[in-house]
Amino acid sequence: MPSIITIANEKGGVGKTTTVVNLAAVFASMGRSVLVVDNDPQGNATTLLGVERGDLGSKMLGQAMLDKAPCDDYIVPTNIEGVSLLAGTPKLRQVISELGSGHWQDKLLKKVFETDKLDEFEFVLIDTHGSVDCLLKSSLAVSHYYLIPLFAEPDSARGLFDLIETISDVREASNQRLSLLGILITKYDTNSSTHREFAEEIRRVGKKARVRVFANMIPASRSVPAASRDQKSLLEFRGSLPISQAYIALGGELMTIIKGKRTGRPAIPDTEILGPELEEMEEIVFAKTGEEVAAGNPV
Ligand SMILES: Nc1ncnc2c1ncn2[C@@H]1O[C@H](COP(=O)(O)OP(=O)(O)OP(=O)(O)O)[C@@H](O)[C@H]1O
Ligand SMILES: [Mg+2]
Repeated sequence: MPSIITIANEKGGVGKTTTVVNLAAVFASMGRSVLVVDNDPQGNATTLLGVERGDLGSKMLGQAMLDKAPCDDYIVPTNIEGVSLLAGTPKLRQVISELGSGHWQDKLLKKVFETDKLDEFEFVLIDTHGSVDCLLKSSLAVSHYYLIPLFAEPDSARGLFDLIETISDVREASNQRLSLLGILITKYDTNSSTHREFAEEIRRVGKKARVRVFANMIPASRSVPAASRDQKSLLEFRGSLPISQAYIALGGELMTIIKGKRTGRPAIPDTEILGPELEEMEEIVFAKTGEEVAAGNPV
């Protein structure tokens, strides 16, 4: 049985797809077999993995969902050795309109995953889009873990609480084994006092509310769009870059957590503590960094 991880955040452009593709590349470089599930009609992970929509025929995630069939005949290889793909295409929009409500809405991936084929993989990474709909709910329903990429900006704190509360509801309704793996700070700029303050505060809040914030943060890097243009993972693009090294270190961190957790109890955030703490945190970060701006010390 693979470890199944959904990467989720309703907020767009926070690095969900970049994280899925680069973690897949890192796990594959460690000799682990990975299935990427591109559960986003935009299909950005599919493109980044070098798979052309025109070559897919009916081998795509949306078709497997509409056929209510196991994924065996729908998986395609990618540019990265050791990484396979269930491709994301606009077909997923048809899934939303045809199966997006009623009792099917959180079972779309359950059917697709009901196969021994899944045991060929050690990790399944599910990329999602920015809506709380049947695609996200069905991803969470089959996952062991969810991981939240986040910008180190004060207003992320508010969105984070809403997201964790929503996911907690899905957990109650359809998958009680679901654990929050942790929060990943992305596009981190060490020169920004706002980012530094945010990172410090979110770790403090995380400790109180049983929410892990990964030790490794992903730096902001101009190489991300450059590697995307070449349809390469950062590891292939230039493994020595700080961002490539950060993804490698994150891969190691996740591996340690997941291997150590296999038999443990699910990690569930304490939302009663989290809500007020995040609200206070937003004010603290605004106040501290705002003061620095006022004092002529740009953030
Ligand atoms: N660490 C980073 N440094 C700089 N740019 C980044 C970084 N991570 C992602 N980006 C860029 O930010 C944009 C959004 O990233 P990405 O597509 O991974 O986010 P997303 O959360 O999947 O977005 P969406 O919600 O649209 O699916 C992309 O143009 C990507 O190249
Ligand atoms: Mg994306």
